[in-house]
Amino acid sequence: MNDQTTKVSKQAFDLVLFGGTGDLSLRKLLPSMFRAFIDGEITNGSRIFVCTRKQKEFDEILSVIEVAFRNFMLDGEFNAEQYSQFGKMIIPAIIDVTDYEQGWEKLKSQFAKREHNARIFYLAIIPNIYGNCCENINKAKLITDNSRVIVEKPIGYDQESAEKINQTIAQYFTEEQIYRIDHYLGKETVQNLLALRFGNSLFENLWDAKSIDHIQISINEQVGLEGRAGFYDDAGAMRDMIQNHLLQLLSLITMESPNKMNADNIRAEKIKVLQALRPIINEEVKEHTVSGQYVAGNVNGKLEPGYLEELAKNSDKTSSNTETFVAIRAFIDNWRWSKVPFYLRTGKRLARRSAEITIQFKSVSHNAFGADAGSLTPNRLVIQLQPEESIQLHLMAKDMTQLKTVLKPVKLDLNFTESTNGFKSFGYKRLLLDAIAGNATLFIHRDEGAAAWKWVDPIIKYWKEEELSPYLYRAGTWGPKEADKLLTNDQREWLI
Ligand code: BG6
Repeated sequence: MNDQTTKVSKQAFDLVLFGGTGDLSLRKLLPSMFRAFIDGEITNGSRIFVCTRKQKEFDEILSVIEVAFRNFMLDGEFNAEQYSQFGKMIIPAIIDVTDYEQGWEKLKSQFAKREHNARIFYLAIIPNIYGNCCENINKAKLITDNSRVIVEKPIGYDQESAEKINQTIAQYFTEEQIYRIDHYLGKETVQNLLALRFGNSLFENLWDAKSIDHIQISINEQVGLEGRAGFYDDAGAMRDMIQNHLLQLLSLITMESPNKMNADNIRAEKIKVLQALRPIINEEVKEHTVSGQYVAGNVNGKLEPGYLEELAKNSDKTSSNTETFVAIRAFIDNWRWSKVPFYLRTGKRLARRSAEITIQFKSVSHNAFGADAGSLTPNRLVIQLQPEESIQLHLMAKDMTQLKTVLKPVKLDLNFTESTNGFKSFGYKRLLLDAIAGNATLFIHRDEGAAAWKWVDPIIKYWKEEELSPYLYRAGTWGPKEADKLLTNDQREWLI
């Protein structure tokens, strides 16, 4: 995106993964570091501490990681020879994050004479022990000027709890040292949003309420609980996806141009737009939001259980009002976006996996071609993040096969997967390398998180206070019918 974000640290670093053998580390963080290693992006002499509470031999830890790589990396990505080289960077640390007596002195002893290397502490642990962990990092005198701490979303449960967590971390690390991760910002096409908007005069001049009818942002998943019953049932789609990924996409699509593409300027613009989101409170919640929960159904030809069945299998709960689907009509109260609706949607066990942003332009003000030329479909810009990374512009053009003037919709298609020779980007890898290099551009500022919580809290509160049950939808569909009504009531429809 700019010089800063492409910068890769040339210096050897120490990455300390707390929760080193947990799900996130095994599925995402360690594979990302392995990919960086294969791509030659890791300086010799760097070290990765895999912290775990369980007493395990070194070989045992290495083989747990190897099994995970074989399971979670793409076909053909794993290479045993490279893995054995990568393994030399790994240092197991048997510690209890919350108890200084359990392993911290040993960890401390391994950092002597490494003061100048970047130190990255990744808290891949549950948020309620962030405080203990930071306190112990501090007690072990591990925090240097060149240290950073990475924390996962969602930070907290609401604005108040997020604030408490932020305050705790802030006792030990400065705001500049705190890297709040949202892996959607590591996706190349998400970063491309800024290039598209601010690198082309073509779009920027049309990017407002005068030309745009509405914008849709959808992140649709086919997966269900994936064994995360405990976390998910407390969070729900609103905290798990809307508070962070969807609002991040929304802010990148709608923010004003920063005068320079650096962390402070980009984040300042994102905060402004998040603060301009029109609050949805009390009775308005029913009018502007729809929550859903899946029941059993066919996804990709396979019968999948309903949410409650999955929950009962993975926890001791048998009933729940947790939403696995959310659709929202939102507005941004500022000059640029006045009265433009933003439709946000996300859900699990939907018909297809996709993540898309659709910018629907207004119709031409007058059809000069007359009815015989066919109807004019308004222009549409579709930015696809998943499964393919592409940008499509839907235009009207003359049907050249006919003598008379008939117009038909055509597509300008920019497929990044094809145009980059199948290059595959990995969000976590990008973000880890940025954190190592000390570049915070793609990380969330404390005030961004706070503004996002401030907007989602009243919605969750109303659902809870009014005991609104989510609408049921069959797995493998596009969610409850009520989500369609949210748009049909506005004479619009979901475009994916
Ligand atoms: C995570 C959520 O942040 O994002 C998960 O906790 C979700 O519930 C995941 O499945 C989706 O990420 P991606 O990159 O697969 O779209």
